[in-house]
Parts: sequence; C-alpha cells; structure tokens
Amino acid sequence: MDAYQRAVRKFEALFNASPEFVVAAPGRVNLIGEHTDYNEGFVLPIAVDRFLFVAVRARDDRTVRVVAADLDDMDEFSLEEIVRDPEHHWRNYPRGVAGVIAQNGVTLRGMDAVIASDIPIGAGMSSSAAIEVGFALALLHLAGTEVPRPTLAQWCQRAEHEFAGVQCGIMDQMIALLGKENHALLLDCRDLSHELVPLPQGIAFVVADTGVPRTLAASEYNIRRQQCEEAVQLLSQLLERPLRSLRDVTLEELGAVFNEMPDPIRRRARHVLTENSRVHAFRQAMRERALQRAGSLLLASHASLRDDYEVSCRELDAMVQALMSVEGVFGARLTGAGFGGACLAMVREDAVERVLQEVPERYRQLVGDNAPQPTLFAVRTADGAHIR
Ligand code: GLA
Repeated sequence: MDAYQRAVRKFEALFNASPEFVVAAPGRVNLIGEHTDYNEGFVLPIAVDRFLFVAVRARDDRTVRVVAADLDDMDEFSLEEIVRDPEHHWRNYPRGVAGVIAQNGVTLRGMDAVIASDIPIGAGMSSSAAIEVGFALALLHLAGTEVPRPTLAQWCQRAEHEFAGVQCGIMDQMIALLGKENHALLLDCRDLSHELVPLPQGIAFVVADTGVPRTLAASEYNIRRQQCEEAVQLLSQLLERPLRSLRDVTLEELGAVFNEMPDPIRRRARHVLTENSRVHAFRQAMRERALQRAGSLLLASHASLRDDYEVSCRELDAMVQALMSVEGVFGARLTGAGFGGACLAMVREDAVERVLQEVPERYRQLVGDNAPQPTLFAVRTADGAHIR
C-alpha cells in the first residue's frame, strides 16, 4: 500500500468519512550546492517521486487533530495556543507551521488530518520540509487563502527554526513547493530568484542510503552554520569592508587572506565558495549535455564536503567509491546535510539496474562486516507540492 492509500484508509477508518482533499508533498534530492543555502549561495535540487500525503477535512471548532499513520501517533492542539512539544519531535512540524501562518495574520480553521509518507526518514531527502509544506498547503486551502510560494517557503523555514530547532536554510522548502518534473531548480538563496533547469535525457538519479543514522545532524549542522558566521566576521575585518554573508567574498579574496585565518573556519569558507562555483559549472554542463564533466563536479563536491566542510563519514565515502566502481556512473556525492544519510549518483539510464544490484555488495566489502544495511533506489523528478 503506498502512502496515499495509507493516509486515505486510515482517515476513513478513524473518521468514518472520506477526506475532503489530499495534499501531496514531494521529497527532494539536492544535485549540487550543499551547505550553501544558509550562506546566501546557490543550490540545484530536484523534487522526487517519493511523496508525503496529508488527508484533510475541516472542523467547525479551533482544534487541529493530526494523525501520523506511519508512527501510530496522534497530536491534538488548539489554534488558540500553539506551543512546542518537547517530547514528540514530529509534532512540532504541523504545530510550527500552524503557529507561523497564524502569526502572519491568516485566520485558520480547525481540521482533522492524517499524514503518511513514502519519503525515507533520515536519508537526507527532507521528509521534514515535505511535512511542513504539505501541512501548510492544507491549512491555507481550508482558510481559502493563497500565499506566494517563496513566501510560504520562508514561513515553513521559520517553523523549522522556531519549533523543530534546526537552523536550516531555505532550499528544502523552496524545492518542495516549486519543483517541476524533468527539471532541477537553480535557486539563488540570497533573493530567492529561481530558474528551472531542464535535465538532459538519458540520465537517471539513484539514491544510495548508507543506513547510517544522522544522529549528529542537528547539532553539527548548527555548529557549521555558526562557523560560517564567524568566517564572515573575520573576513570582513581582514578585507576591511562590511560583509553580509560568504556570498560577498570571491575565491581570490579568500585566497589572499587564507593563511591569516584559523582552521577550520577558513576551510568552511573555502567549501562554500568553491561549491557555489560548482553549481554554476554543473548547470552549464547540463546545458551542454557534458555528462562526464557534470559527474566530475559531483565528485569534487563530495571531496570538498569531506575535507573542507567535514560533514561526511566513512560509510558515505565508501558509498561514493562503491558507486563509482560501476560502469555507467558519471558521478556521486553525499546529498543533504551529511553526517550519515545518503549519496546521490548520476548514472546512465541503462546502468540503473546494474547499480542497484552491484553496489550494496561493494559497499559492504569496503565498510566491513559491521556495515549498516544500505538501501538503493532510483528516483524520478516530480512536481512540487499540490492538492490532489
Ligand atoms: C539540510 C537543510 C538545508 C541545507 C542542507 C545542506 O537539508 O535543511 O537547508 O542547508 O541541509 O545543503
């Protein structure tokens, strides 16, 4: 049973009625541009065909009931007073989104909702952004209001900062709302201007989850963010001009003062600046169908995330190596925040089956007997969140 059916069936079983509507929100995979979004840089994600569904009906009061079908858990809160739930992490996504939308002056209505998801949790495919944008669209639809999608993405991001406690960037919410089939989204995280980049035919994307849980993701993520802010302050002293973000610095400028900066701050900055230029180079490669070149850029991104940004781990490195050992793989790298989770591989369409068959064993050989169970699957591009 897929997540759509699980959501609808659970809804029918619980409420003895069909949902009035169902929202579909996709997972995402970032092709390139990692840890650049909160540095006002560039990213190039795709929305993928793994969805979270929210089945909904209106209520006449100010109560919101949310059932997480896959967790067998239910939350209930009043729109009069929306607070964090320190014990049940997932509950803060719907709560947070409702809280932020209400703070922005939208009069919300109570509802009964059931959520079910086919987006693997912890694989770096942003199941959290999907729940945020899915729930946000449900609330707005019931309220009879529309909000421009980039604005809504910012509201969802705020919900994640304030309720879930992760200082995430804007990439995940934007792609979950603005993705389009057969396209990647080139997003300038400084002003949220964006462009759909058509993907060449004949390539496919494989997600290779290492099975390593991303236990450090939240805390280490916030540390990286802080280090980037420190780098901005230091660079602005060294370059003697006010800087708002790493976006305001060129690679040449960084190179000129690199030796005067302490480690690891300077390597963090170097990753962000080189990664931004790789995003543009990758987009150009897509345009020219230069697939080998695009693949090399993915590998360079991984090396930079591993050596300069230090968000990889042994298993992610082994997975990249295992993927690259198969004929027909152009490039691979860790995707998402890192610290465990998954790699992305760009492969020739006719090599997908071979990759799925051969890589798990090669990964196990590289990691050793204690290797966690890997999961590999192909993803297709999909449209952003919508009402079904
Ligand atoms: C997480 C965050 C994103 C982004 C990536 C790293 O997925 O939610 O905003 O920062 O990590 O690129």
